[in-house]
Amino acid sequence: MKEDNKLTILVVGAGGREHALVKKCLSSPLAGRVIAAPGNGGMAAEVDCFSVTVEDVPGMVALARKEQVDLVIVGPEIPLSLGLVDALEAAGILAYGPFRAGAELESSKAFCKDFFARHKIPTADYGNFTEVAPALEYLKAHPAPIVIKASGLAAGKGVIMAETEEEAICAIKGMLEGGDFGQSGCEIVIEEMLFGEEASIHVIASGEDYVCLPASQDHKRAGEGDTGLNTGGMGAYCPTGAITPEIQAAIEESVIRPTLAGLKADGIDYRGTLYAGLMLTKNGPKILEYNVRFGDPETQVLLPMVAGDLVPVLLASAKGQPLPDNLDFHAGAAMVVVLAAEGYPGSYEKGKEIDLPEAVPSEIEIVHAGTMRTESGSTRTAGGRVLGVSAQAPTLQEAADLAYEICDQITFAGKYLRRDIGHRELKRG
Ligand code: AMP
Ligand code: GLY
Repeated sequence: MKEDNKLTILVVGAGGREHALVKKCLSSPLAGRVIAAPGNGGMAAEVDCFSVTVEDVPGMVALARKEQVDLVIVGPEIPLSLGLVDALEAAGILAYGPFRAGAELESSKAFCKDFFARHKIPTADYGNFTEVAPALEYLKAHPAPIVIKASGLAAGKGVIMAETEEEAICAIKGMLEGGDFGQSGCEIVIEEMLFGEEASIHVIASGEDYVCLPASQDHKRAGEGDTGLNTGGMGAYCPTGAITPEIQAAIEESVIRPTLAGLKADGIDYRGTLYAGLMLTKNGPKILEYNVRFGDPETQVLLPMVAGDLVPVLLASAKGQPLPDNLDFHAGAAMVVVLAAEGYPGSYEKGKEIDLPEAVPSEIEIVHAGTMRTESGSTRTAGGRVLGVSAQAPTLQEAADLAYEICDQITFAGKYLRRDIGHRELKRG
């Protein structure tokens, strides 16, 4: 901490989630200087960005040291799974996010499923396999439809929903023998297909202590009506009526608290975000997976809903200290609509000039995901998900109207967006 007691905060990552984190930190009275690595075109317009990649753990530690960083906020899962928080701690630098042992909940689905089983947390029935023969035996006993998952990190692509036995066999052999998903597919999880509505709960944890953020829903498919390929997320909103106060209480009781108690019992000091992906089945909520970081684009709606300063909460979590009982949220709802490059999640072009509105209302945030800033100061596309337009309003319909109005004012060649973000909630009325 510097003489003025203000913090220097380093945000690690290059996407929309990290830009939203930068914006939230910039609004904190505790923050003196906010920097990012590697950042993107939007972050570069607001803070100093340093060209250290998220995989470069020693480089990130050296940067944090050189810039005298007081708090590192780690955005993506990869540096967490590589032990960035452990390395920072060893260097005496405070970081928000789990240590490597906790990050395994996301980096190994097989580990995560065994964790659920060990701690009796409701989830789909499953088996973990590294050999084809026992996997095929399991398939005989548990016929399709069934879900085949690469155990390791696969950028959301390693999940095959097999409707038929042939598809299941093909996925099993593809991963275990064919090298699909590389090292991440050397172990697979085969699990029961669950049916229901999906929703997510993000909690900020500090050991067994936690605070919940509003329940959210994202839209993973590229096409309207939830069709087409899976993406990183084409839009999100919160809160969602799919999670009523009763369901929220049930999730905290049967999933969140047993998880944090289980981590402690297993000797894992968990600090940071736990993002629970849930299926609301007719037999109650079941957990599909944990992510150990904030969702992208969920962060772009969750953070604007937090009334007041989030930095003290992230600091307390990073230190393993008690958290406040509750967070205060703005009334109403928030929605983010992702503007992607035509072709995403397949191949797409980069380098297209982006034209942004000069000024936007205070309820709007334009968050950059895949953008870069040229030397002349113009902004160009540099990724599949290019921008997110996030709006906060008294109702979700008003947030949608505001967000889409701004989406229509932004231009770049090949701009693609879904027009139906929030459709389930808007139909719920
Ligand atoms: P995951 O990465 O495990 O969350 O899986 C990605 C997506 O696949 C989820 O958001 C669900 O839409 C779907 N999915 C995963 N597991 C199951 C399951 N057991 N039953 C139904 N859908 C699933
Ligand atoms: N929006 C999905 C994710 O962040 O994993």
